[in-house]
Order: sequence, then C-alpha cells, then structure tokens
Amino acid sequence: MDLKTLAERVRAETSLPFTERDAQRILSAVLTSEDIWRIIDLSDVPVMALCTALREMEKASWLEFAKDRIRLTQAGRDLVKQAGIAPARELRCGRCGGRGVELGPVAEMAERFAKIAAGRPEAIQDYDQGYVTEESTLYRIAFMWSRGDLAGKEILVLGDDDLVSLAAALTGAPKRVVMLDIDERLVEFIREVARSEGLQVEALRHDLREPLPEELLGAFDTFFCDPTESLRGFLAFAGRGISSLRGPGCAGYMGLTRREASLAKWRAIQRELLARGAVLTDLRDDFHDYVNWPYIETMRSWQHLPVRRVPGREEPWYRSALIRIELVEPPKVANERLEGDIFTDPEAATT
Ligand SMILES: [Fe+2]
Repeated sequence: MDLKTLAERVRAETSLPFTERDAQRILSAVLTSEDIWRIIDLSDVPVMALCTALREMEKASWLEFAKDRIRLTQAGRDLVKQAGIAPARELRCGRCGGRGVELGPVAEMAERFAKIAAGRPEAIQDYDQGYVTEESTLYRIAFMWSRGDLAGKEILVLGDDDLVSLAAALTGAPKRVVMLDIDERLVEFIREVARSEGLQVEALRHDLREPLPEELLGAFDTFFCDPTESLRGFLAFAGRGISSLRGPGCAGYMGLTRREASLAKWRAIQRELLARGAVLTDLRDDFHDYVNWPYIETMRSWQHLPVRRVPGREEPWYRSALIRIELVEPPKVANERLEGDIFTDPEAATT
C-alpha cells in the first residue's frame, strides 16, 4: 500500500474529498504528537475523513492504536522516511497567537469582558453552538478596528454565542450594534448585560432560516457571523450578512474551519462569496480557538474517532480562520426562507 492507494480508499469509503497530500499531513501530525486532538489540530484534515484515514493506516499496519494514543509502527516509520514526510511544526507567533494584530485599546476592556462572559449561557447542541475563547473574541474586535470596520460604524452580529456584540459595544467605538440569535437565553443575557453595564446593544430573537426583517436589509456597514459549517448553512448565514450591508465598501467577517470543511468546500464558499458581489481581503487561519463544548461525546464524529479521550475545556483543537470580505458591487442575495436541515452535510463533525 502507498499513499496514493490509501487516499483512493478513503475517498471510496467516505465519498469525501481526500488527497494524497491529506494523508501526508496526517502522518506529519502523527510524527509530532500521539494525541488524537493534537493530530486533528495539526493535520488540518476534516475530522470525518481523517477518522477513516487513521483506520485505514492502522489496517495497513502503519499505525497502532494504544489506549488513547496513536503511534507509528516500524512499517509506518519506514514509509514516512521513504516518502520524505517531516514532523508538523506550528511555529505560531507567541505574542499574538499567530493572529497578526495587537489588542491595542481592546486590552483595556479584557477584564470587564471576562467578568461579563463568566455569566454566559452554556453552549448547547440544539443550535450547533460552541463558542470561541474570550481572547479570540477580543482579537476579532481589534482586527475589525484595525480595518476601519468598528469605530463610527453600524454593526450587525448574526448569531452571537461568542458575545461579539458586547465586546464591540464595550469599546464605545461603534455607532450602533445589533445582534440576532435564535437562542432566547442568549438574547435575554445580552439584553440584561447591556442594561446593567449601560451598553448600547439591540438584541433581537431571530431564526436565520427566516428572511431578515425589512428594516435590517441594507442598513449596516459591517456584519459578523460565525456560521454553521455545512455548505448550505454557511452560505445561507453569510448571505444574510451580505444582504444586511449598505453596499460597496461595507465589510463582513466570518469564521471558517478546516475541521468540517475540506478545501473543496472552501473553494465553493469563496466562489459563492465572489458571485454575491464580495472580494476576500483577509484570511487569517487559526484565528479562533474554541472552548470545548459540553456535548463532545454526542457530537457526530465522536463515534468515528479511532481512539477516544474527552479533551479538557481549555485544550483547543477546534480552530477556525477569520475571513474578511468587502463588497465591491451591490449585494446579490435573495432574502428568502430556508427549508429543511441546514446544519448537516457529509463533512459535518460537531453537530
Ligand atoms: Fe505576532
């Protein structure tokens, strides 16, 4: 068996995109760590395909599973050497965590934000929730500020378990902040915090499968959204954001992961964003670290993992890129109702 044959087998078994290069990435990660979550993180191969690939590698006697560890066998070591595969290296910048921006004035509100976030509702599986670390949210605000999309701007947050609306309002810089979420607990929480802290945030309960209310269309300078990762769901939520923008020069921010989205899906997403009148101006990979949610053992991919260990809360393995788009043409998105399941697709791993 060689890497090419292995990639063919994974594709045949899963019908998911999987390349020889993906197999190399997995072996690079295994050379660096024996831990399943580090291997997922380092390899950047979508979890569902990765689980099948690890099993195939074990069948080929390249790997052995020992309790919760994954190790190369002698045959595996020989293959890696012969294929010239080197250990994965992160080389993440120690100062900014690889985000490429300073917190600047946002650092002054970190303590206040931490106190507020301590009272947040816990992530639940019903709405595919899972929030990023407080640090990730603060860096988002700094990044938006640095791009001129925060100060004096009207901002819409579509789905806000990351508390972006509160963090944005804490800076005192935006002209207006509106948040929408389907989760009544979150809407109530944000209203309550806004009231007690004297923050200007309008919180509205809204299901993003429904068309945006008329008064929110074409009304904002900036939107923020961390969509569900199915292709249809991602495009639906991104489309809502785009239709909320005034027009050319307005910006949108989104999270996009490798954990549940192959590069083939990234391409489909990027192509659609371009078709809707936007251009990608920034893409910062691994910008967001997610706090492990309480439903790890019931998420879709758990049963597929070849070795299982519940990761600690602050042991990030699920990361996503921050993407900034800017409209160069008037938005081209229909404000229609979406029917059916928008949360799952063959690569979905955490729903
Ligand atoms: Fe840095």
